[in-house]
Amino acid sequence: MYDRKKKIEELKKSIDMDKLPLHIAIIMDGNGRWAKKRFLPRTAGHKEGMERVKEIVEVASNIGIKYLSLYAFSTENWKRPKEEIDGLMKLLVYYLRVELKNLNKNNIKICTLGDITKLPEGPRKEVQYAVETTKHNDKMILNIALNYGGRDEIVGGIKNIVNDIKMGKIKVEDLDESVFSDYLYTKGQPDPDLLIRPSGELRLSNFMLYQIAYSEFWFSNIYWPDFREEHFYQAIVDYQKRDRRFGGI
Ligand code: FPP
Repeated sequence: MYDRKKKIEELKKSIDMDKLPLHIAIIMDGNGRWAKKRFLPRTAGHKEGMERVKEIVEVASNIGIKYLSLYAFSTENWKRPKEEIDGLMKLLVYYLRVELKNLNKNNIKICTLGDITKLPEGPRKEVQYAVETTKHNDKMILNIALNYGGRDEIVGGIKNIVNDIKMGKIKVEDLDESVFSDYLYTKGQPDPDLLIRPSGELRLSNFMLYQIAYSEFWFSNIYWPDFREEHFYQAIVDYQKRDRRFGGI
């Protein structure tokens, strides 16, 4: 018989804790298909997906991951039916309300990636409250990408750079990759070492385009609502077998 607990323990033991990825990014995909397979509405898939957010955030922080970035709502997701968007916003609010205590207890700081000024007022305020309340926590940074698009982020960064050049705050000659990074939502954070995308799709879908230049990719056919602790460990174990050369030899 399949012993899940044993499998989890074995996988956990095979992780080299001294070589953990500093930053893991996840494209949480497959909620809709998970629900469809069960003849459930898409929002049921998102609800189960939220349960996995709780689980993976806790697991990541427990094993010592320092940065976790989750793609929760893209700039393209506004094209979905209003009902589904409302459902996603409700889940976000619910998650933050229910989990805030836990996040604080686990010393997790919430940051956002994306232009949250475009979120409806209720969810926006809830997010701002969570960011404010957790701002002194320092065990793990949890980036929640909301109304996020990689291209939008890069174009927005360029606009701000041009403005700062006009205002004399920086000079064109001073602009390099490190300065440019300071104009992204991930300012001050290391780039993701590992990008996880479940659900069988093999694309980036506009997620962290600039930051992901040298990330290792881990794809799987599992839908996000089925993505458990053991899959997270497996991704790390596989990541640790990769030979990262960053363009060198
Ligand atoms: C992609 O699956 C998933 C999303 C667009 C939303 C992700 C949201 C959650 C996991 C729940 C709430 C998040 C937080 C942070 C509390 P899809 O709907 O595109 O799936 P499909 O490709 O199978 O249709």
